[in-house]
Amino acid sequence: MMTPKVTVLDEFIIKRQKDFPFASGDLSRLLHDIGLAAKIINREVNKAGLVDILGMTGDSNVHGEEVKKLDIYANEELLSALRHGGMCCGIASEENEDFVVLNEPFARDAKYIVIMDPLDGSSNIDVNVSIGTIFSIYRRVTEEGLVEERDFLQKGLHQVAAGYVIYGSSTMLVYTTGFGVNGFTLDPSIGEFCLSHPNIRIPEMGMTYSVNQGYYSKFEAGVQRYIHYCQGEGQRGKKPYSLRYIGSFVADFHRNLINGGIFMYPATTGSPKGKLRLLYECNPLAMIAEQAGGMATDGKTRILELQPGRLHERTPVFVGSAGMVSKVMKMIAEERKGPQ
Ligand code: AHG
Ligand code: MN
Ligand code: MN
Repeated sequence: MMTPKVTVLDEFIIKRQKDFPFASGDLSRLLHDIGLAAKIINREVNKAGLVDILGMTGDSNVHGEEVKKLDIYANEELLSALRHGGMCCGIASEENEDFVVLNEPFARDAKYIVIMDPLDGSSNIDVNVSIGTIFSIYRRVTEEGLVEERDFLQKGLHQVAAGYVIYGSSTMLVYTTGFGVNGFTLDPSIGEFCLSHPNIRIPEMGMTYSVNQGYYSKFEAGVQRYIHYCQGEGQRGKKPYSLRYIGSFVADFHRNLINGGIFMYPATTGSPKGKLRLLYECNPLAMIAEQAGGMATDGKTRILELQPGRLHERTPVFVGSAGMVSKVMKMIAEERKGPQ
């Protein structure tokens, strides 16, 4: 029997270039560079238990959180792949307080910028649980020359492409350029991401909800009501939903994308803007969710319509199956309005 034809990531990216009229190939090259960095990061992630790379560096990142060595490694690999690729003029990262200006002559006038969370879910590294990389690509708003902050502070609506890599039981890269969502699984024997999940669609409803329920008492009434609903109390005898929470946004999101479900990181009384970051966590996964037929909101407003005020801004987020996200929004709106 003949082996079926395998489509690898780079081939797919080039084929899809025709979706963009007058495409010069720069975006294709940028996606290629990210795919390459992902393979290198994957290699290190897989070795994490073997080599002396675990543990803290002793530094903390801009949010005052402990930074693991792999966070820094992933950040540097991505920065280096993007810098050498020459297709972007600036990069913002969770691990850098300010955006990085690429001022080499071959990069400074490039038309794209990249925003990334190099390693998401990093508290899970030491315990061998799935982690990820998240990326978001925009066209710059300044015409040319050195990149400026306003190039990064664009609404998620303007993303040209977004994606993530999940380092799980297998490694996958999932991305969109605004024409649906496609998933590629890394075949380590040939070192290629192979198209394994073409045109991913998120089910309209799922049976899974993902939230750090330890904060239940700190959530607003509408969120608490929705959690009760998930637990079966609002569903007139129907089966309760299953609670699944990994604590890696990428991994929780990926499961819900494939099987249907909702991920929530709501505001708490202590953190009125929640925990997750708008630019490099919520916007990219919101674009993927929408492109797959799902929804993403901060409880009231569509995530992709939020105007960022600063690079490391946080936002509450509810993302996943459209039917589930609509339901929690409705409960939040009703509870905020109060009894009529
Ligand atoms: P990061 O490792 O990039 O800082 O992200 C961690 C995030 C996210 O991946 C996850 O959904 C969330 O933190 C978990 O937070 P809690 O531990 O508060 O539930
Ligand atoms: Mn993260
Ligand atoms: Mn991170």
